[in-house]
Amino acid sequence: MASELTGVGLTHGNGFRALQRISLHLARGERVAVIGPSGAGKTSLTRLLGSALRPSDGRLEILGVNPWQVSAGELRRLRARIGTIHQVPPIPPRQRVITAILAGRLGHWPAWKGLCSLLYPVDIAGAQAVLARFDLADRLFDRCDRLSGGQLQRVGIARVLYQQPDLILADEPVSALDPTLADAALGELVADSERRGASLFASLHAVDLALKWFPRIVGLRAGEIVFDLPTARVSETMLRELYATEGGLLPTQAQTPVTLRDATTVDAAGAATAGQVAIAVVRFDTCRGR
Ligand SMILES: Nc1ncnc2c1ncn2[C@@H]1O[C@H](COP(=O)(O)OP(=O)(O)OP(=O)(O)O)[C@@H](O)[C@H]1O
Ligand SMILES: [Mg+2]
Repeated sequence: MASELTGVGLTHGNGFRALQRISLHLARGERVAVIGPSGAGKTSLTRLLGSALRPSDGRLEILGVNPWQVSAGELRRLRARIGTIHQVPPIPPRQRVITAILAGRLGHWPAWKGLCSLLYPVDIAGAQAVLARFDLADRLFDRCDRLSGGQLQRVGIARVLYQQPDLILADEPVSALDPTLADAALGELVADSERRGASLFASLHAVDLALKWFPRIVGLRAGEIVFDLPTARVSETMLRELYATEGGLLPTQAQTPVTLRDATTVDAAGAATAGQVAIAVVRFDTCRGR
């Protein structure tokens, strides 16, 4: 089922207008990446789609349901169909990895099964299989506070894959991973959404990963959509304008330049030559001080 935002705006509690005039249609099985400079509103938009924030104006339907006009029971059922991958997974530090993974299905299980699972994990094999896709099968019984930030982020992704939601929302899901792991983890996420026909909406700081893995890109700046296009139609000029407030430097994950269609090559030093387009290489940890 589709999700749709029409003329949506969001004003935070302190009066700050974080999003305005957002219109977006996300079809079943579609993959969309939202990119834009820090503070553009990517997390706010993801939280609106996850029904964690209520829009201040406009219309919103998630998987065909308006979360703000349904009963508490319907809202719970809707949320069980949405899987959110947070930049820092909200997992209690002392929780074991297996419990964190199995919690992905709590919204689908009857209460007795959830309670049993707290006492003794009900699906060890299933949790191990999903962790193996992220090279973490041997960490199944570790406590989450014994994991590195990158390992914890992969547990957060594995948990949502275990959940098998109809809509996956990912807010900078690979920001703590090195380029090789980030690419592999996004590949798993994309493969899972394709195989199950789930929609995938991801905010990404790394432009190269967005271009590689997503067929549609939404550019967000100062709370407004500045373009919403098939990836093949996103030009270097559009990207540089989107990141103008960050000096026009395009944040990427990889060390090597990314090639776009038909334009001018820009090397890591920012020098342009004719023939090919490449994104200036700026590791986002340097550019954002992470
Ligand atoms: N709870 C809040 N109360 C007030 N203002 C907020 C709140 N959350 C976010 N904002 C503001 O809304 C704007 C958008 O924030 P948001 O976190 O959505 O941006 P972002 O694109 O995800 O940025 P980043 O790339 O740094 O994660 C920012 O100016 C931020 O300061
Ligand atoms: Mg954010």
